[in-house]
Amino acid sequence: MFIVLLGPPGAGKGTQAQRVAASTELLHISTGDMFRENVRNNTELGRLAKMHMDKGELVPDEVTVQMLLERIGRLDAVKGVMFDGFPRNVVQAAALDEALRSRGDSIDRALLISVRDEELIARLGGRWICRSCGHLYHERNDPPKKAGVCGECGGELYQREDDRPEVVRTRLDRQKPSAELINHYRSATVLREIDGEQSLDEVTRLLLEALD
Ligand code: AP5
Repeated sequence: MFIVLLGPPGAGKGTQAQRVAASTELLHISTGDMFRENVRNNTELGRLAKMHMDKGELVPDEVTVQMLLERIGRLDAVKGVMFDGFPRNVVQAAALDEALRSRGDSIDRALLISVRDEELIARLGGRWICRSCGHLYHERNDPPKKAGVCGECGGELYQREDDRPEVVRTRLDRQKPSAELINHYRSATVLREIDGEQSLDEVTRLLLEALD
């Protein structure tokens, strides 16, 4: 199965992709995580991506699509993928469709997680992430047992640079899924909409139900 998770920044795409991938054995591919890894390793791609990420803007399609196509060309992506944060627009969606079509695959579901802006702002402001394993926490909604320490692996928790309030505002202005992108999947009859303001467990249940 090839699944795309759509939703505004902070909707819960990363959290739910980790959960759904764990119970379906789909490979979780997050373009945001790939960019952050490149930033950490100070690669040329990472330096370019950082300039855009720090401002709350999308990284240009050309480099994003190239990075994603290279990733899905690897052996571990043959059987099925849960795409988190890709595509962001119809140019990226068309490139993904074409790459899958050329190997006899297609997108089976596009799951759109909807959350209101006030809740998105609260979620991004309270998000903490493990530096070692990437597990996601929220200081109010899903806190770690010990402050600053990952309950999964003992790693150190940090907050993202682009979760600063002024960057969050730009991300919410520029990075919500466009009507054009949503229609792309609606017209392919693979779109399912999920209320992302339920509990973490309930959203996971709704997503898994939508995959059946
Ligand atoms: P990316 O990392 O993909 O950022 P994003 O899309 O803004 O999404 P987030 O990771 O911020 O949020 P999320 O929806 O995953 O929510 P999460 O699960 O963490 O991309 C980063 C940057 O990279 C972009 O700004 C862009 O510059 C670039 N980029 C990436 N992909 C690109 C592309 N395709 N093209 C161009 N540029 C690209 O949850 C948030 C918080 O809420 C957590 O604390 C969590 O615990 C909590 N939470 C989650 N669900 C619930 C719930 N149901 N109830 C209560 N709390 C919840």
